[in-house]
Amino acid sequence: MTELIDGNVHAANVRARTKVRAEAFAAAHGRKARLDVVIVGNNPASRAYVNTKAKMAHETAIDGRLIELPETIGKDELLGVINGLNADPGVDGILVQLPLPGHLDGQMMIDAIHPAKDVDGFHPMNVGKLFTSARIDPEAMLIPCTPLGSLMMLLDTVGKAGLSGKNAVVVGRSNIVGKPMAQLLLANDCTVTIAHSRTKDLPAVCREADILVAAVGRAEMVRGDWIKDGAVVIDVGINRVPTEDGKGRIVGDVATQEAMGKASYITPVPGGVGKMTVACLLHNTVVAAEARVK
Ligand code: GUN
Repeated sequence: MTELIDGNVHAANVRARTKVRAEAFAAAHGRKARLDVVIVGNNPASRAYVNTKAKMAHETAIDGRLIELPETIGKDELLGVINGLNADPGVDGILVQLPLPGHLDGQMMIDAIHPAKDVDGFHPMNVGKLFTSARIDPEAMLIPCTPLGSLMMLLDTVGKAGLSGKNAVVVGRSNIVGKPMAQLLLANDCTVTIAHSRTKDLPAVCREADILVAAVGRAEMVRGDWIKDGAVVIDVGINRVPTEDGKGRIVGDVATQEAMGKASYITPVPGGVGKMTVACLLHNTVVAAEARVK
């Protein structure tokens, strides 16, 4: 029997706890915690994500603002916007939605965000803290939202003892998900393998995984026979595939139907990790706001 890990339930819990803190912050400081989300250009998927982030912020007593910039904006102009937000005492969190148009260097923009306002946890200072801290504390550090949400669901599902000593395989080596996810699993005493497109015999590597995290961005790449019996599977993928009616359908990086009956637990797509990403962004915004007034 495979149980689904319901991202909606986990995310609602994180948002409810965050809302209580956001309301207390507003009462104590006479203003709401504020998250500014910067979007450049018209990528439809990015637009949908940032609209969700702003809407969920409002529902969580956070002042979520969208800063919409034209596709043609230059490097110096965008750096100017980021520096303005860094200097604005009313701004607690800054997120620059990725990917940026080709003429802009995403890492350069991330590096420009003040580390204390970097609610994505992508700034090298925050990455360094994550990779060197003896103890991972989501209250004291800004941890990338998708890996943090994935870890929270794992801990709620199998507990600390369910991770300690286990073989974890992370498929995907991005700075946004793969690398920080591996670090969080390592900090929770997993034996971690990071696999990727050049890994030899990827199915065999995945079959060793007690904990399998798929974060490659390729629709249903991880097949049922890649999954060890009883493995816990976290599917980070959000891929749109064509359908006959032209509307398309969202699927993960794992062939979920094939995984049913093999995995002990799996996150569905949609309704899994994606919801937790946004919830953790709001969590990070409150953590950043509280730290700034300390
Ligand atoms: N693009 C895809 N995921 C993310 C994310 O978590 N943060 C940002 N800034 N951009 C993204």
